[in-house]
Amino acid sequence: MTLELRPLSDAIGAEVLSVDLASPLGDGVIADIRAAWLDHNILLFRDVDWTPAQHVAFTRRLGGLHIMPGLAHETSTNHPDYPEIMVVSNVKRNGVPIGLRRAGWGWHSDGEDKRLPNMGSLLHALKVPPGQGDTAFANTTKAYEALDPAICARIEGKLGRFSRVERHNHNYPDLPPLTEEEKAGRPDVWHPVTRTHPETGRTALYIGRWAVEIEGVPKAEGEALIEDLTQHAVKPEFTYTHRWRKGDAILWDNRCTQHCALPFDDEAYERHMQRTTLEGDTPFYEAPGGARIESYVP
Ligand code: SIN
Repeated sequence: MTLELRPLSDAIGAEVLSVDLASPLGDGVIADIRAAWLDHNILLFRDVDWTPAQHVAFTRRLGGLHIMPGLAHETSTNHPDYPEIMVVSNVKRNGVPIGLRRAGWGWHSDGEDKRLPNMGSLLHALKVPPGQGDTAFANTTKAYEALDPAICARIEGKLGRFSRVERHNHNYPDLPPLTEEEKAGRPDVWHPVTRTHPETGRTALYIGRWAVEIEGVPKAEGEALIEDLTQHAVKPEFTYTHRWRKGDAILWDNRCTQHCALPFDDEAYERHMQRTTLEGDTPFYEAPGGARIESYVP
């Protein structure tokens, strides 16, 4: 079977027109979905009507599932019956939050602050606010390819330090601070800021809101450089903003994209999404001469 696809934008993404994710899918279709995903970086499926078990089962066809650790000790972020599903939601039941509010309000790729960042993520929209609550996606391969050569020479093959501990309060101001135990469990990690995709071999810019420092660059200068690189990566020519409909599911590749949940009026409206997350492997950069630079935790 060949998938019927429709581009979402010039920058990134395709809508898959010919597959009902809730139906039984043969290995050939899964292989086609994977190939389309690698080509387009994000795939949109419409009118997906499935149970949490089907969401988990489909994602598992693409790889091992990551169970998201709680972000802060008081917050339950995973589905009570399916811990493989992270609940991204501002909905409360009996006054108690049922998911993580304001998750991903800032450009990032999932797991960039972890030693093994996530390969991919699949977000399913169950309730969306009218006319808001969009998610923007950036194609970081295109962003890398369009880098100013002088900037590229400064960062090519360099490692950047990503820090949950330093950025937690900034990125999640509404959550309690991390406990000392949580801090110990989330050590800083150094990742190549130019990252080779393990399946396509293409290089992407690998930076995001947990990055705090670039190897060999003085701290303040490095922060300014990270800000410049982030602004570059999310230029309109590299991005697509998705206006969600109930039943939409988007599969993205964290190795060559960034995404950002756009803030919405979450006092007035409910937004309820469920996400499965694929395990990833050690990021690396393969230099043209063959040298390989890998992520590490000091
Ligand atoms: C996320 O960062 O995974 C959440 C994105 C969203 O809710 O739009």
